[in-house]
Amino acid sequence: MSNKAYITTPIYYPSGKPHIGSAYTSVACDVYARAMRLDGRDTKFLTGTDEHGLKLQRAAENEGLTPQQYVDKMSEQFRALEDIVTLSNDDFIRTTEPRHEAAATAMWNKLNDAGFIYKDTYAGWYSVPDESYYTEEELVDGKSPDSGHPVEWVEEESYYFKLSAFGDKLLAYYEKHPEFIQPESRKNEVIAFVKSGLRDLSISRSTFNWGVPVPNDDKHVMYVWVDALTNYLSALGWPESADWADYFQEAVHVIGKDILKFHAIYWPAMLMAAEVPLPKQVYAHGFWVADGQKMSKSKGNVIDPVEMTETFGIDQLRYYMLRDVSFGQDGDFSKDRLISRINTDLSNDLGNLFQRVLSMVFKNCEGQTPDLGELTSEDQEFLNHVGPEFVDEYLAHIEKLEFHKALDVVWNVVRAANKYMDNQQPWSLKKENPERMGQVLRVLMEAFCPISLLVEPFLPNSAPKLQAQVGFKGKTFADLRKGTPLLETGAKLDKPEGVFMRYMKEEAA
Ligand code: MSP
Repeated sequence: MSNKAYITTPIYYPSGKPHIGSAYTSVACDVYARAMRLDGRDTKFLTGTDEHGLKLQRAAENEGLTPQQYVDKMSEQFRALEDIVTLSNDDFIRTTEPRHEAAATAMWNKLNDAGFIYKDTYAGWYSVPDESYYTEEELVDGKSPDSGHPVEWVEEESYYFKLSAFGDKLLAYYEKHPEFIQPESRKNEVIAFVKSGLRDLSISRSTFNWGVPVPNDDKHVMYVWVDALTNYLSALGWPESADWADYFQEAVHVIGKDILKFHAIYWPAMLMAAEVPLPKQVYAHGFWVADGQKMSKSKGNVIDPVEMTETFGIDQLRYYMLRDVSFGQDGDFSKDRLISRINTDLSNDLGNLFQRVLSMVFKNCEGQTPDLGELTSEDQEFLNHVGPEFVDEYLAHIEKLEFHKALDVVWNVVRAANKYMDNQQPWSLKKENPERMGQVLRVLMEAFCPISLLVEPFLPNSAPKLQAQVGFKGKTFADLRKGTPLLETGAKLDKPEGVFMRYMKEEAA
């Protein structure tokens, strides 16, 4: 298995501010990247902004700015997501950067040199918000089938990509690489679409100029999606860099289900045409709606990640989004559910467990890690939950982007720890058997090591606090695999502080 990992978010159109959908994709990728790094993988996590196209040109005109001034300003709001939801991205690509324009040009030249580009006239419908072309038959009530936005009639000279030549090759690829498109239901949609026949794709525009110029024809700019998809390669220094392929073959493109066709059909076909090996996976997650309704500016029900993190906390929002809905499914964003996740899972199950145990250690064991001693069968039975298999099971879910299941694996152990504590009742041993009390607390502290490390990808701000309280700092999954004992007897501990506040429902009103 390769030691590299590469995870990407879609590059966001910077025509508004980030909403909960962009925060969601970015957080999911961040969790994956952090887990891979803790597992010792050489990891790249890429995000960025998609800055060309008619939509952005028009948005700039509306504000009386040049497109470049506009995207310079707006792109910063997406960079700010790094702080808003604590992202650990290694790079942030903007499609107006020279390194990207060079790669997009190289991609065009490769497609052209291989004979997959030709010139013709395009006549059909275009949706600016979707930056997508449609035939008459594809429209729904005369509007975009993807977003319901109005479409415009476009008639112009255009370059085409011979997408129709790739139907069979794509189908054979999906068959041979069953993991390439996930989840399964999305894969089936793509297969059905490809089987229904692919038409060549118009890949240039000549009626506006906000795009990467087509090589040797400055009347045309590249279709924004051809330019945008190439970002996943440009950030690796493709085609010049020595190691782009090492990362790209491990690439996992996380996207929303609305842009699946571009990533699972157009992109692999372009790569096949350019003779670039395909990424490992395209994973389409579901959509968030708000109280059962599609979020939209006009309805005024758009969930703002800034407001959510300011009210509830960053780690709390991250946890809720990845725990409450299985990745791949749609989710209904609910403050009530968010609050009950905070109170039940974070504050009660996890936070109180650490606080109760570590306070007892602080008060009754001279603030030092107690001795493990000779384990009883009950101790051993409990500790069996937290051996190397715990990490393996968790990681297997993360690799499949089954975030809610990875969290379930951790919370099963958290619940087992609470049960062990209730059974052993260390508080009642204080007087007659302080040694056994210390031992029980130490057994629990041993379990806190993997728990506090495995939650770190999800809770990057709180987990280090939990780790510091246990005295298990700066560790990796390799340390966990060494098995018990993970702590040193006699290590000095600080007075524990509660890490997760409870929320009263009224506070959120
Ligand atoms: N610029 C293109 C992507 C190019 S990638 C080469 C784009 N940008 S976008 O800003 O419109 O959308 C970015 C992502 O946000 C998409 O994956 C989209 O599916 C996702 N979401 C938009 N609304 C969403 C929700 N309500 N819920 C979850 N994700 C949502 O498309």
